[in-house]
Amino acid sequence: MDRIVIRGGERLIGEVKVSGSKNASLPIFAASLLTEGENLFHNVPKLRDILTIARVLKNLGVKVQGENGAYRIDATEVSNNEAPYDLVKTMRASILVLGPLVARMRKARVSLPGGCAIGARPINLHLMGLEAMGAKIDLRSGYVEAKADRLKGADISFDTTTVTGTEHLMMAATLAKGKTVLQNAAMEPEVVDLASVLKKMGAKIEGAGTSLIEIEGVESLHAAEHTIIPDRIEAGTLMVAAGLTRGNIKLQRCPFHNMEAVIHKLRETGMEIDPEGEGVRVIGSRRIRSVDVKTQPYPGFPTDMQAQFMTLMSLSRGLSIITETIFENRFIHVNELQRMGADIRIQGNTAIIQGVESLSGAQVMATDLRASASLVVAGLAAEGVTEISRVYHLDRGYEELDKKLAGLGANIKRVKEED
Ligand code: EPU
Repeated sequence: MDRIVIRGGERLIGEVKVSGSKNASLPIFAASLLTEGENLFHNVPKLRDILTIARVLKNLGVKVQGENGAYRIDATEVSNNEAPYDLVKTMRASILVLGPLVARMRKARVSLPGGCAIGARPINLHLMGLEAMGAKIDLRSGYVEAKADRLKGADISFDTTTVTGTEHLMMAATLAKGKTVLQNAAMEPEVVDLASVLKKMGAKIEGAGTSLIEIEGVESLHAAEHTIIPDRIEAGTLMVAAGLTRGNIKLQRCPFHNMEAVIHKLRETGMEIDPEGEGVRVIGSRRIRSVDVKTQPYPGFPTDMQAQFMTLMSLSRGLSIITETIFENRFIHVNELQRMGADIRIQGNTAIIQGVESLSGAQVMATDLRASASLVVAGLAAEGVTEISRVYHLDRGYEELDKKLAGLGANIKRVKEED
């Protein structure tokens, strides 16, 4: 297993390009199951999760070819309707193939994703919606088995806002008979990107980006070409890295307008973040002010930035409170940050962070994707050497983060297992 070794203390300076969004790419890949013909997707990030969804699709008989960020996906022939445990267990988002398979093939068998490091993460709302659209659902031997003659439009109201749940049912509804209304739908930019691909495929969707989405089902969808939006969480992580190192960096292809809550909070800490030409200039301040944050569905502060923001607050002047409202167990990075000298106390879903003068390098372990990112940015600011093991978590969702940071002047290297 690779490790990342960082000698902290270098200011980040220079320009870096933000990659395509992981959480937009995954449902868009699943959406290709709804179509006949060859889809072409650009700006797909090079990540482990992308390889996983590609394997799930190939296992269904779909043709998937990818190089240099461009993927051709042809689901004209779907020869299998099962997504096995071995593939789904490594990535929960694999469940997104269920609805499209039922919508197009009338039948699917997909492993239940099971537990996950950041909380229970059930899929009850996904299944409730498919049932409301007429699918017959059985849970058997750890699998969801779903059947339907043709899905039919339904009025669905989510009790909890769910991102992949909204995406899943929006996809299924595109081929249903009649109109589907999704209430309390997720408003994330990734939902909007998926809707714009589905529309290019011939779907009739209105309201994506608001809490009420209406989908008028059509008989069939065709292939489309689309460029994936840039990854707002990667961009936010790079901003925090600049904030922690008093850096001065320019982000190219930065989704500035999808990052209002994060940019607002980072500015409150004293950072300067402003559009500059085609990109965004990010300047860290000498003193990091402490700021409170509460995670919320979009357009609120994203849970996927909570861990990285906590690292920033660890080095702030004062006390800050971070409240996690989306996932019940998303403070697993705290133990590792404490080992680096951070002063953090947890009370239920709240973390109380007393800023310290400095963090010290340590051997730490990545436990999930965003937790790993928080340790990498901590290592950039810490005194001495930080060694992060289990880097595969990071590789699930960040394209060559180590190389990008090295390009900005960080003293960071990846140690391959064989070294
Ligand atoms: N929930 C239910 N029932 C459901 C679905 C969700 O109770 O059927 C609950 C969850 O347990 C959670 C809340 O609803 O408490 C919100 O979860 P959501 O369904 O929105 O999360 P998700 O769709 O599984 C996506 C991202 C996550 C991101 C969350 C929240 C993808 C592939 N994943 O997950 O991204 O944290 O939305 O924004 O889009 C990451 O990239 O590191 C990551 C974990």
